[in-house]
Amino acid sequence: MTLDPVAVRADFPIFEREINDHPLVYLDSGNTSQKPRQVIDAISRHYRWHNGNVARSVHTLGTEATLAYEGARAKVAAFIGAASETEIVFTKNSTEAINLVAHAFSGRAKDERFRLGPGDEIVISEMEHHSNIVPWQLLCERTGATLRWFGLTDDGRLDLADDLINERTKLVSIVHYSNIIGTINPVAELAAKAHAVGALMLVDGSQSVPHSPVDVAALGADFLAFTSHKMCGPTGAGVLWGRYELLDAMPPFLGGGSMIETVTLAGSTYMAPPARFEAGTPPIAEVVGLGAAVDYLSGIGMAAIAEHERAITRYALDALATVPDVRVIGPSDLTERAATISLVVEGIHPHDVGQILDAEGVEVRVGHHCARPVCVRYGVPATTRVSPYLYTTTGDIDALVRGLYTVRKVFG
Ligand code: ALA
Repeated sequence: MTLDPVAVRADFPIFEREINDHPLVYLDSGNTSQKPRQVIDAISRHYRWHNGNVARSVHTLGTEATLAYEGARAKVAAFIGAASETEIVFTKNSTEAINLVAHAFSGRAKDERFRLGPGDEIVISEMEHHSNIVPWQLLCERTGATLRWFGLTDDGRLDLADDLINERTKLVSIVHYSNIIGTINPVAELAAKAHAVGALMLVDGSQSVPHSPVDVAALGADFLAFTSHKMCGPTGAGVLWGRYELLDAMPPFLGGGSMIETVTLAGSTYMAPPARFEAGTPPIAEVVGLGAAVDYLSGIGMAAIAEHERAITRYALDALATVPDVRVIGPSDLTERAATISLVVEGIHPHDVGQILDAEGVEVRVGHHCARPVCVRYGVPATTRVSPYLYTTTGDIDALVRGLYTVRKVFG
């Protein structure tokens, strides 16, 4: 079924707004997506009618809140094809999900797959978001293990010529869709390579799960991290999917209430996953909102969303190619790239580009996009990033192009 972005926009109250006397043109969904009325209403309804704490109250409100929270877990599990909802851990964002996995590795880990020390290697890439770099740097500092990374080709793909995955590798952690240049990475192929040498594989799905059908069985990985606020849900909730048998072999991340079986002052025992990893009062209303976002996206259809974004990307790449001095960094082949487009306006700093575009109501992100090594690799201090979503129209791209002509007029 083809998606009609104009009809979709009617679900998003924010598009009633103007920015600097222009209709809102929102091209920053990679940063955070806008929220449909269905999600806003679900959160509001939760607080108005069902608010109680989860997993610890016998009263009606607590039971309703628990059912809603656990119901959202089942929705998320079905959305990504998880074998069971017990494979879904709610975190506060992708960053926390990745840190949770990193925390499981140590020199003293009971399970050999998580035991890490000098001589062992973690493999990432130059394309990673800082959240998939820094936790591994910290882990390597703690354990004496070595961090290695795939470089990037001139056209924005992973350079897999160097075969970094070998018998020393304990974990490969790679972004599915680059948050800065949109590259779609061959994560299933990398997962197969990791498994062939006995290593684990984590996929950062922050920018893929919101934009295309993602099935964890097809992905072949062991862990998948993603976040609610980039997929029409609220901020404050994220997801770690992990194969249950692995989650069960991992130690707690944060200690506190709701993750224990029993506590004495001499020691404690812990619940099975996912509760083991959800210490304290979780982001209840946020998770309920995420469940509503999953319903919303599923109602439209992830395949239709992906197809719409491919069409918008083609339109945007063709349109940008007509603007003098604008250069796109990253793959041009639509089979190798998603909708996120990083561009450089030669001779003009991205912050100036962003300000002029904002004056015309066009919201883009400028900077290094928390993926600074990519900017260093391509010799630019920063980029202007255009990140469309299901509500993006060709008219939005036309407004972007008009804005880029204004940028050239003002600074050219
Ligand atoms: N990770 C988000 C981005 O890429 C914030 O913009």
